[in-house]
Amino acid sequence: MVESLTVNLGERSYPIFFGSNLNGRIRSDVEAARAAGRKVAVVTDANLARAQGAALTEAFGDAPALVLPAGEETKSLSEFGRVLDFLAEHRLDRSAVLFAAGGGVIGDLAGFAAAAFLRGIEFRQVPTTLLAMVDSSVGGKTGLNLKAGKNLVGAFHQPAAVYIATDLLGTLPAREFAAGMAEVIKTGLLGDAGLFARLEREPLTVRSTDLAAIVRTCCALKARVVEADERETAKEGGRALLNLGHTFGHAIEQVTGYGAYLHGEAVAIGLAAAARLSQKLGYIEDAAVARIEAVLAAHALPVRLHAPLPLDALLAAMARDKKVRAGALRFVVLRRLGEAATQGGIAPDLAAAAFREVGAA
Ligand SMILES: NC(=O)c1ccc[n+]([C@@H]2O[C@H](COP(=O)([O-])OP(=O)(O)OC[C@H]3O[C@@H](n4cnc5c(N)ncnc54)[C@H](O)[C@@H]3O)[C@@H](O)[C@H]2O)c1
Ligand SMILES: [Zn+2]
Repeated sequence: MVESLTVNLGERSYPIFFGSNLNGRIRSDVEAARAAGRKVAVVTDANLARAQGAALTEAFGDAPALVLPAGEETKSLSEFGRVLDFLAEHRLDRSAVLFAAGGGVIGDLAGFAAAAFLRGIEFRQVPTTLLAMVDSSVGGKTGLNLKAGKNLVGAFHQPAAVYIATDLLGTLPAREFAAGMAEVIKTGLLGDAGLFARLEREPLTVRSTDLAAIVRTCCALKARVVEADERETAKEGGRALLNLGHTFGHAIEQVTGYGAYLHGEAVAIGLAAAARLSQKLGYIEDAAVARIEAVLAAHALPVRLHAPLPLDALLAAMARDKKVRAGALRFVVLRRLGEAATQGGIAPDLAAAAFREVGAA
């Protein structure tokens, strides 16, 4: 039996299917679309095509597939153009369905292409990394990076379905699994103290018997947040809470040029910095900061920069971050373990001090 969860967004509502293997479920949805006269196409990346070729064939049969290079650099205008050309070449029309099979890079890029092609065609997510399963495949944020920064171009385009098959994680490199854990730990920190306590008891691994349940818990929490604030327009709280650790993390990614740190690794250091900021604001104790860093480290994540980065460059990157409103520094802070809040008007000195404690020079 295939379990599911609904993301309730009125006419944009959609199911998230959960299972260890969903190839049969995907295949029958592909065949049903085709039987109804709809074209189906797939975008994936080269690593996945290599590691999960058999699963992709089982799920998508002979549907046209575009295999893009793996990696963050693929979330670019030039690869975006390639996806659009591919869709046009295969004569997809307004009734077509585009599947994104891959991690957050493929989901964000293909989702944005689906949002733009013919002013919007249906897309479906088949996340294959832990990060994509617990975070990026749900919620409808799509987009790409510019030289000036991450995710500066994009659209809200909700998927029509998400298929989360945890068996796919069997071939995910350990470093990528750890990067996904940063978003799982983030989820616990911002809204689920029980989840954080579970991670504190024992590290989650690809072999943990509760992995699928935890993935589902993260999706359910994200779905609730997205339902309440789909387009991140809430003045306080809302969808912005999902950016816990990300203002710091994005600055690290931008200053290092997306090479040295995976997104999840930058977020892990960002979570440590956000914890320190929250401690400085008087919300959490030193001991809580230590617990957060211990959980990150136990999941093979960094809590300090490997090499010092210039503080002025990091602060400049934070000031450019689109989440910074009207020049004042705005952060997601922890009120306690399991509860986050947005807070504006934070003195740059305080943010700088937090950044210094995680290795900025
Ligand atoms: N849209 C959102 O709401 C949202 C949320 C969080 C992150 N993101 C974005 O997601 C991106 C990061 O996503 P990611 O961490 O999934 O990275 P990714 O897509 O680059 O995937 C990581 C690596 O794992 C490989 N891979 C994927 N699945 C595999 C599998 N099953 N077996 C073997 N190898 C596999 C990929 O080829 C790649 O090399 C960032 O660009 C980030 O901005 C978006
Ligand atoms: Zn993230």
